[in-house]
Amino acid sequence: MSRTISGKVIIITGASSGIGHATALALARERAKLVLVARREKQLRSLAEQVESAGSTPLVLPLDLLQEDCVKKMIHYTQDQFGRIDVLINNAAFGFYGSVENTPADVVREIFDLNFEAPLIACQLVIPIMRAQGSGHIINVSSVAGKRGLPLSGIYCATKFALQGFSEALRVELQGSGIDVSIINPAATQTEFGDNIRYGDVRQRFKAMGHIQSAEEVAAGIIRCIKHPRAEVYPYRISRILVWLNAVAPSLVDKIMTRFFRERLRATSPIS
Ligand SMILES: NC(=O)c1ccc[n+]([C@@H]2O[C@H](COP(=O)([O-])OP(=O)(O)OC[C@H]3O[C@@H](n4cnc5c(N)ncnc54)[C@H](OP(=O)(O)O)[C@@H]3O)[C@@H](O)[C@H]2O)c1
Repeated sequence: MSRTISGKVIIITGASSGIGHATALALARERAKLVLVARREKQLRSLAEQVESAGSTPLVLPLDLLQEDCVKKMIHYTQDQFGRIDVLINNAAFGFYGSVENTPADVVREIFDLNFEAPLIACQLVIPIMRAQGSGHIINVSSVAGKRGLPLSGIYCATKFALQGFSEALRVELQGSGIDVSIINPAATQTEFGDNIRYGDVRQRFKAMGHIQSAEEVAAGIIRCIKHPRAEVYPYRISRILVWLNAVAPSLVDKIMTRFFRERLRATSPIS
């Protein structure tokens, strides 16, 4: 049976652009009560106006999730305002492009803080609330890059593997609690993500390769997942083939990647 979204209190991190923004608009049309979280307040306020005119109730929280106390504020302010939290969508993240060999430790710490630790802390804070309600749904936005390491994105991939790892464990730990845990694995998606990627030892900027889906397609996958909770969602279904092939023949996938990323691998420069 399909779950209703109307009236549900839903937190979306990274709502100021891309997948989070498209998801907020889609959920507003379903009349959810939305908590919009990101750093850029102007973008959030403009989204909140659209959300309101679609008949939904937004709470705007301009917060920097790199700071642990902001993650706490996100959960506490939502609970204070609405008295419950039905769905937590951990979506905010940034990418890093550079070799594993030369990625500086401060970059590793920062990307893990946002892509892994912020969702983890948010989950730890929201679980007791959802347990008390007897229901809830945690949705962690990972990536196909959280299933197979990609050259020159090794550290970003590691953050998404880490997110997947604790999400899978959590799914089993929460059996019988009424709380669902889902992982969304988008493939390349047309958003601001590429513009915001930080660069390490790569001499040039690159565009996404292969099929590029829209943020709205990913949002549609998230909405379906809220209505019919699933362990994992691949908004671009064909990307499952890579995951399957990597599980059975990782060396073959290495060879394919070496060819596919040949130009990019040439563009890395050793740090002197
Ligand atoms: N685009 C792709 O090709 C792709 C593919 C697979 C998976 N994904 C995943 O999809 C998710 C959404 O990415 P997107 O493609 O929609 O990228 P995006 O357009 O760059 O959105 C990223 C969001 O995260 C927010 N954010 C960044 N740093 C933050 C911080 N310190 N505190 C709070 N919010 C912060 C940004 O808002 P502010 O700048 O306003 O803070 C923005 O709203 C990410 O988890 C990403 O890893 C993306």
